[in-house]
Amino acid sequence: MILVTGATGTVGREVVKQLVEAGQDVRALTRDPGRDAGLGAEVKVVGGDLGRPETLPAAVAGVDKVFLLSGGGPETPLHDANLALAANEANVSHIVKLSIIGAEYGFDDLVSTWHLAGERTLRQLAARPDGPAWTFIRPGEFMSNARLWAAPIKSRGMVFWSQVEPKVAVIDPRDVAAVAVTALTSPGHESQTYRISGPEALSVPERVEKLGKALGKPLQLVEVPIADARDAAARAGRQPLVVETTLGNLGREEFRRHAANPLPTFEQLVGRRPGTFDEWVNDHLDIFR
Ligand SMILES: NC(=O)c1ccc[n+]([C@@H]2O[C@H](COP(=O)([O-])OP(=O)(O)OC[C@H]3O[C@@H](n4cnc5c(N)ncnc54)[C@H](OP(=O)(O)O)[C@@H]3O)[C@@H](O)[C@H]2O)c1
Repeated sequence: MILVTGATGTVGREVVKQLVEAGQDVRALTRDPGRDAGLGAEVKVVGGDLGRPETLPAAVAGVDKVFLLSGGGPETPLHDANLALAANEANVSHIVKLSIIGAEYGFDDLVSTWHLAGERTLRQLAARPDGPAWTFIRPGEFMSNARLWAAPIKSRGMVFWSQVEPKVAVIDPRDVAAVAVTALTSPGHESQTYRISGPEALSVPERVEKLGKALGKPLQLVEVPIADARDAAARAGRQPLVVETTLGNLGREEFRRHAANPLPTFEQLVGRRPGTFDEWVNDHLDIFR
């Protein structure tokens, strides 16, 4: 049995889908198990809150492996620790944690720091007798962050964003999930960190142009200060501090150098090329119409 946390979100939902396709027994964690999350009849949905440790023993009981996704905000170290401790108590053998590429390079921005703290807890638990093994997946920026541009694209054919010039080898979250599924279902991934990216480095103007072509209408990109992009993202439900940190990273030369670098790891692990931004756009056009 594999427990998937974050199962109703962008990556976790794909992890659930791909594990089911691979014939695995899947349990999906959500804070709201009464809601129909549309995960499919094969999936056992379980209630639990990573911020409330008393809810977690039932979620991990009888589980062999865990996909661990914490939100990426300041709660990440605590949520990672809560789940990892419950998993250790339940004799879980392996935890695959979704981390972030900044952890790979030891960046000291807030989001990388929070993920590194979560990683550190998992390393310490693994050192205990019978502690769960760990694997850390460290992706760069997701292609799906383009969802944050959907509202002004629909209403005005415009995109307002910040830090637009740096090229980033954005990754399809379905490919992030594919790496997690590989680590959860094939041997030899214990104590491994996987930094992964998409296949091509694209600036925001290049991504916006591709979106416009696919939609059949030219889009106008307006560069705005980071604070404006942060506030717009907050109105769309994102944590402002996370957006501000992520955009701030793009102003750092060392980060830009790494972010623009398409990595071979995905293909080595999964055995096919990673999806392109054009493919992600074509599969998600309705979001922007
Ligand atoms: N976006 C990027 O470019 C990027 C790049 C690299 C790494 N990452 C990392 O990816 C992660 C975000 O993944 P995502 O985009 O798939 O997330 P998402 O779509 O925002 O989904 C968040 C999920 O977390 C669950 N959740 C939130 N609070 C919870 C809690 N207290 N207890 C239990 N579950 C909780 C939600 O489930 P319920 O609401 O059903 O409970 C939901 O399924 C973060 O760790 C981030 O740092 C993101």
